[in-house]
Amino acid sequence: MEPILKVENVEKYYGKKGTISKAVDNISFEVEKGDFIGVMGPSGSGKTTLLNCISTIDHVSTGSIVINGKDITRMKADALDAFRREELGFIFQDFNLLDTLTAYENIAVALTIQKRKLAEIKTLVETVAKKLEITGVLNKFPYEMSGGQKQRVAAARAIITEPSLILADEPTGALDSKSARMLLESFEKLNKEMRATILMVTHDAFTASYAERILFIKDGKIFNELLRGENSRKDFFNRIMEVVTLLGGDVNHVL
Ligand SMILES: Nc1ncnc2c1ncn2[C@@H]1O[C@H](COP(=O)(O)OP(=O)(O)O)[C@@H](O)[C@H]1O
Ligand SMILES: [Mg+2]
Repeated sequence: MEPILKVENVEKYYGKKGTISKAVDNISFEVEKGDFIGVMGPSGSGKTTLLNCISTIDHVSTGSIVINGKDITRMKADALDAFRREELGFIFQDFNLLDTLTAYENIAVALTIQKRKLAEIKTLVETVAKKLEITGVLNKFPYEMSGGQKQRVAAARAIITEPSLILADEPTGALDSKSARMLLESFEKLNKEMRATILMVTHDAFTASYAERILFIKDGKIFNELLRGENSRKDFFNRIMEVVTLLGGDVNHVL
């Protein structure tokens, strides 16, 4: 089967001649449908740059990124806009909900743009809200919700169009530990029950331990890879911490 995402020899440079720095330095990997992948690495290692290239927000300097059979590094702006809407779901650290819309409306936006029938939209929103335990806040505005509720609304918005790939950048970064745990359990559910493919960037080992496979990056390069396999999440967390220690030399610096 074709992978959902194929990143091949991607490099991203910043700066001008003489002062060029490589934020992403020859990274290659593949993601299959239904994978839940974590990308870990210390601050400044290139995680966000890599994710922004995959999410079409930024452009690669060299290399190719193929999502669902389409090379996004060769697409024009108009085609990219449509591609982003149809194939990708986004979850950001700071939620990015629209303040003047209720949770229900925020989740429904993409379906409304697709001109789906109201009854169909209602069924879809209510089904995903139930899975993510946000039924009670559907009529609330973002300012009336907790951070954890807002992030689960953002997760519902990301999954509602059944995108090929969900991209999350530090999704637990602004959450307390209880809300983070609930969000990550939601990700697990979307991944297992809806076969959502998730690529999640985080510098946090607890957050990463919910993924099935972790790519560690350092100085823009893949440094190591871990598979959870049959390990419990707790054992996986301990293995992640071992790599984090190796990677940073100083755990506190990384966390
Ligand atoms: N727009 C930019 N212009 C110049 N340098 C950048 C830009 N964005 C990121 N960088 C640099 O690229 C490197 C990787 O940054 P980033 O991808 O944000 O790392 P991370 O998300 O792992 O913390 C850093 O050295 C950062 O300073
Ligand atoms: Mg970052």
